[in-house]
Amino acid sequence: MKRIGVLTSGGDSPGMNAAIRAVVRKAIYHNLEVYGIFQGYAGLINGNIQKLELGSVGDIIHRGGTMLYTARCEEFKTKEGQAKGIEQLKRFGIEGLVVIGGDGSYRGAKALTEHGFPCVGVPGTIDNDIPGTDLTIGFDTAINTVIDAIDRIRDTATSHDRTFIIEVMGRDAGDIALWTGLAGGAETILIPEENYDMKEIVDRLKRGQERGKKHSIIIVAEGVCSGVDFAKQLKETANLDTRVSVLGHIQRGGSPTAADRVLASRLGARAVELLLDGKGGRSVGIESNELVDYDIIEILSKPHKVNLDMYRLSKELSI
Ligand code: F6P
Repeated sequence: MKRIGVLTSGGDSPGMNAAIRAVVRKAIYHNLEVYGIFQGYAGLINGNIQKLELGSVGDIIHRGGTMLYTARCEEFKTKEGQAKGIEQLKRFGIEGLVVIGGDGSYRGAKALTEHGFPCVGVPGTIDNDIPGTDLTIGFDTAINTVIDAIDRIRDTATSHDRTFIIEVMGRDAGDIALWTGLAGGAETILIPEENYDMKEIVDRLKRGQERGKKHSIIIVAEGVCSGVDFAKQLKETANLDTRVSVLGHIQRGGSPTAADRVLASRLGARAVELLLDGKGGRSVGIESNELVDYDIIEILSKPHKVNLDMYRLSKELSI
């Protein structure tokens, strides 16, 4: 293999730049040429492709977003779109591809793999919902951003003796809600993987108020319902007044944490090693701090599992 490509796709996540840097530098270290594909699969279809040098990835390790830009591309879900993409890869002489992204990006990488094109997936998403890795790139930064917001909201909640509902991202996964709820000492955490009992939630809130608690924080994962809908339910069932904060896309931006930069550097470099070893169709990950890789098609057929021990613990600690 002489020339590889790299792209970022789907929702951006902090640390994607560190992963791109690792791919480029590791490839050049091994005398490979690297081409950056801009704007994800849309850029692949349109041939928005440029050669990257060592200096192209200088001064980006600490920056959020992705220097290659990203997109959600409907056309690449079609056979015609995929054929156009493969044509462009051939046109540029690219023999292997590193795809950095989440679930949708992995589906694109799976399609390329099924067309026989060597592709390695690097899990980059704030949602932490890719199987075959303990952590995805961007999750650590996102949960730290959420914690910062929870701490601020707690100040005003205490001053006003209020209950706050904080809606967090995560698509269909509850990881962001669970980790931030546990780290932020939330009274209640709602995740899509587990049903909730309204009576239990109201009783807990009331017990807290009776103990003289000055605030209550409820974290709602977007995969359960919107924060506004949950506030309506609380009003209707228990006549409870609340305030709602939807954190939204601030969870996706910002400078990556050290943990995300290290993770991205390790996973990006490992992806290049796999391509050099002639191993396409893989997804890289980290398990118990060891680098691992799995068949990307198998990864996509597995359900993501949230840590239910942590969920039970959060309940025990918020009695
Ligand atoms: O997958 C990352 C994510 O931020 C999800 O948490 C969220 O559901 C989705 O992307 C939002 O997508 P968009 O930026 O396209 O609105």
